[in-house]
Amino acid sequence: MAITHKVGVIGWPVEHSISPQMHNAAFAALGLTDWLYDRIAIPPDIVGNSLRTLSGEGGYVGLNVTVPHKQAVMRYVRPDERATALGAANTIDFRDNTATNTDVAGLIDDLVANDVSLSGENVLVLGAGGAARAAVYGLVQAGAHVTVVNRTPDKAQVMLADLTLSAGIRNVNVRSLEEAAQDDIALVVNCTPVGMWPHEDACPWPDAVPFPSGATVYDMIYRPRFTRLMAKAEANGGRAIGGLGMLVRQGAASFVIWTGVEPPVDVMFEAAEASLAEKQ
Ligand code: ATR
Repeated sequence: MAITHKVGVIGWPVEHSISPQMHNAAFAALGLTDWLYDRIAIPPDIVGNSLRTLSGEGGYVGLNVTVPHKQAVMRYVRPDERATALGAANTIDFRDNTATNTDVAGLIDDLVANDVSLSGENVLVLGAGGAARAAVYGLVQAGAHVTVVNRTPDKAQVMLADLTLSAGIRNVNVRSLEEAAQDDIALVVNCTPVGMWPHEDACPWPDAVPFPSGATVYDMIYRPRFTRLMAKAEANGGRAIGGLGMLVRQGAASFVIWTGVEPPVDVMFEAAEASLAEKQ
């Protein structure tokens, strides 16, 4: 069957993205043979023109947006409440030129799928970049008590001030790791790239600071599948969950927006795992 519905991911660089494998596996599993997902490398200085071209004669239904374009695309689309709150979009639907951010759903859906309770729990977020913004926003909305630890505390303060203005997010503290580690922490969410391939020996939690006993680690990193931070959680009697589920579930949320159909999350997960294994 001819391809009549195209979607894809824009980024710079974008060659490493495993989203095409995930989405194309889901299209195949559902018999959506007229759909195709591809990668489109777009340099930062031509984002606006590229969106116009892709939505017009390019014939794309919508796009995923990855680094470094998530903030830049906001000027060219109608962002929904969630994308506006985060100042960043990762999913565009060209049919009505709207955009949203499915990173929040990706994280929270994966925590829920892993039976991690959030309401009323003390949660430590490591980092203050775009991924941390999505995490803080989603975790606070899920009823967690959130503390942020960041290498540059001022950046964390700016993030929280932005979230207060854009989404009314309050009661989130910025603290040092040493202080925060004293709390009764249920969950640590790593939103930094520390420990990511090819620097697997790095860990965002220094050995000198005792790791809270029994705390779960959710590491947004998925390459490697098991990080040093995850090992620390297990060594201290806690659970460890890697970030591949978040990647899959943010993709699944985008898939629903474009197709109107729930994708088979297990098929997407297997496809993501297989393409990561190929990279080893
Ligand atoms: P993203 O948008 O993917 O979250 P980002 O905006 O580059 O990425 O943010 C990365 C986060 O990881 C930041 O909070 C960064 O800390 P700073 O705010 O101090 O820059 C944190 N980070 C990156 N490398 C780090 C390192 N080596 N040690 C500690 N934190 C690090």
